[in-house]
Amino acid sequence: MFSKETYIARRKKLATSVSGGILVFLGNNESPANYTDNTYTFRQDSTFLYYFGLDKPGLAAVIDIDSGGEIVFGNDVDIDDIIWMGPQKSIADQAAEVGVGKTYPFARLAGFVAEALAKGRTVHYIPQYRADNIILLSEILDRKPATVNEGASEEFIKAIVAQRLIKEPCEIAEIDRACDLGYAMHYTAMKLMRPGMIEQEVVGAMEGVVISGGYMPSFPTILSQHGETLHNHMHDKVLEVGKLCVIDAGAEVPSHYCSDFTRTLPVGGKFDSRQADIYTIVSTANTFAAEMARPGITYREVHLAACRLMLQGLKNVGLVKGDIDEALALGVQGLFMPHGLGHNMGLDVHDMENLGEDLVGYDPGQERIRQLGLGSLRMARKLVPGHVITDEPGIYFIPALIEQWRSEGKFSDFINYQALESYYDFGGIRLEDDLLITESGCRRLGQRRLPVTVEEVEAAMAC
Ligand code: GLY
Ligand code: MN
Repeated sequence: MFSKETYIARRKKLATSVSGGILVFLGNNESPANYTDNTYTFRQDSTFLYYFGLDKPGLAAVIDIDSGGEIVFGNDVDIDDIIWMGPQKSIADQAAEVGVGKTYPFARLAGFVAEALAKGRTVHYIPQYRADNIILLSEILDRKPATVNEGASEEFIKAIVAQRLIKEPCEIAEIDRACDLGYAMHYTAMKLMRPGMIEQEVVGAMEGVVISGGYMPSFPTILSQHGETLHNHMHDKVLEVGKLCVIDAGAEVPSHYCSDFTRTLPVGGKFDSRQADIYTIVSTANTFAAEMARPGITYREVHLAACRLMLQGLKNVGLVKGDIDEALALGVQGLFMPHGLGHNMGLDVHDMENLGEDLVGYDPGQERIRQLGLGSLRMARKLVPGHVITDEPGIYFIPALIEQWRSEGKFSDFINYQALESYYDFGGIRLEDDLLITESGCRRLGQRRLPVTVEEVEAAMAC
């Protein structure tokens, strides 16, 4: 938890950014895995954490814009809870730690909101992603659950996004910590990975690093020799010499700030020459994107420049042909990189994705371009100091997609389909670093950059 003043200042700023009414914040509850008392690890809602800092289930809060009042809603524990959980701070004491002086039992939330509605006041809330909170709001607002998110307040969302997109120094320090832990996860994999192991053994060691040194992985670890499947969560294969293994994993620290790194390792510790060629195209694009990322440029421009560089590289190895600028404008790169260059990162690994990708990642008036790859770009905005984003280019050989485009004769003037036939067993390569936009450019978060060039990766895996 940050200082009380941090939360007070954040709420004060938020209250000046919304025109009137009440702002409702729902915290998360425990989430049962297979029966009520056997829960997933508790994860507080990030917007609740950002403004109220309280990392416990069963809480909600309200800011009354017109009166300036702030209330935390929650229930004090009774002796039955204390038997199982031990003594707990009262809700009033918890609220006082984040500068809120008024608390009510949770059951008063519904009446409080109903009273505001009855007076014709605007009740602002953000889209909900958990079923229990959707049902709660549906009951409080007397709306069908399926329509609750339609009533979310764009004004409230935009005010939150404007604030959370620009990271404060205390947040950057936490993200640096998460990146150091992410570094340790990946470095463990580089040292441990040996042919003959099961992928899951490496996953377990990596996740052990973050569970013992932080909180939990910031998302389910991707570790696969089938890196052409972008989010492959199967870890059951034996590691085989000569294969490439994509590892996309990050750490969440106890304050819940995240990191997100990807490295692609050659099983056995050495890239063959074909792998090294494609790998170098991706690593060059990753470094080039970081060199371009600075205030004033849009991340969409950086995405396109990185794609251009990769198309040129693919042309140099004979997989792409024709005019590169024409190919780029048509979207040929989508065959090789069907995802965006990066996303915002902070309290969520895809920061604020629950608030709506376009409102978070696109400037007003900036339209998402519906092209394979570019259409998945989660962060396209003009960069400003304080943005924290990922830089994650990749090249993948997805046989089903290549076959589909080939059968449609798609971009056959630009794609050497025949040469691609021998890449069907290649897999994929992705390389990801986390960047903070500064006044003059950007810096990579974390104290050290993970080995990234062919030489650095081979050296790290050798000893
Ligand atoms: N690291 C997973 C993702 O960015 O989607
Ligand atoms: Mn990522």
